[in-house]
Amino acid sequence: MFAVPPELIDTPHEHDPVMLREVIAAASVSAGERVVDGTFGRGGYARGILHHQPDCRYIGLDRDPVAVHYGDGLSQELSGLEVHHAAFSEMEAVVRRLGLESVDVVVLDLGVSSPQIDQAERGFSFGKDGPLDMRMDTSRGVSAADVVNSMAETDLANVIYKYGEERRSRAVARAIIEARSDAPIETTGRLAEIVRSVVWRAKDGIDPATRTFQGLRIHVNDELGELERGLEAAEALLAPGGRLVVVTFHSLEDRIVKAFLKTRAAKPAAKGRLMPWEEDDEDERAQTFILLNKKPLEAQRDECRANPRARSAKLRAAQRTDVAAWGAAPDAEVKQTGAKL
Ligand SMILES: C[S@@+](CC[C@H](N)C(=O)[O-])C[C@H]1O[C@@H](n2cnc3c(N)ncnc32)[C@H](O)[C@@H]1O
Repeated sequence: MFAVPPELIDTPHEHDPVMLREVIAAASVSAGERVVDGTFGRGGYARGILHHQPDCRYIGLDRDPVAVHYGDGLSQELSGLEVHHAAFSEMEAVVRRLGLESVDVVVLDLGVSSPQIDQAERGFSFGKDGPLDMRMDTSRGVSAADVVNSMAETDLANVIYKYGEERRSRAVARAIIEARSDAPIETTGRLAEIVRSVVWRAKDGIDPATRTFQGLRIHVNDELGELERGLEAAEALLAPGGRLVVVTFHSLEDRIVKAFLKTRAAKPAAKGRLMPWEEDDEDERAQTFILLNKKPLEAQRDECRANPRARSAKLRAAQRTDVAAWGAAPDAEVKQTGAKL
């Protein structure tokens, strides 16, 4: 495994888990069940769920080697916990390698953790000067510096517009191209200054660099592709009655979860509606999930007051039915684990 740089271990590492009460309730873990936490972070959900139900196997995954390092330490304290270095899109392979055919709960708490933002060395923050990295998995992939110093202007503008929802994306991309012709852009501070030179501070006081940094972070970590693949992997792994619980923090993520669950939870139309020569289309496929909440849950007021990050959180949860996942071979069966239905 990738060695964790000591400077990343010695700095504060607190992360307040968001909507923990609601996550514990939606996951509703019973004795003997298997849980995959695809975004282990600092183990806030792991501690909460294992406190509530100590008799379960809790498989934490994180693509950040520093989070896995902390997880390894925590697993010495909490029996039932194990933490693996992997992206959640890889959860099927990890779980199968552990000799399991299915699990009862999959939890995802998207985005970055507070320690990742707080540590200038990680390069996520425009508020702290550091190397322009932004990779959650520092052991592989391309950094934000690689992207801003090599991507074509139109592609850069598209990334900043699509993932950052920055209306002045073209101006930002132009300014980046001009600046990098002087010298490569290697720090968060320099990139933030470049953005601030062409995007003005809005009335809400939000830093003009916020949206560009978000766009680059989502691109560098392929966050939306990860989410799409992670949801499909969860569908493939969950046993009948298993619960999928996803907490999102912005509309791009929530839209993907909402659309996924909408199609998977739609009841196929009555077959009689089709004429014999008409073929089933995708929407006619079997229902693999039942929604546990029609509208997303939001954090309660006391939590939003205590933790501003909770203000934008949305929780969607659904229960797996007993039909095969959409991506499975036609004759595949969903493996029972004795989960309650
Ligand atoms: C919001 S934090 C999770 C915090 C955690 N629930 C807690 O209470 O401590 C998100 C974590 O998920 C990780 N992460 C984000 N996307 C991931 C992915 N696609 N695969 C694996 N880990 C991911 C990040 O590295 C980060 O540590």
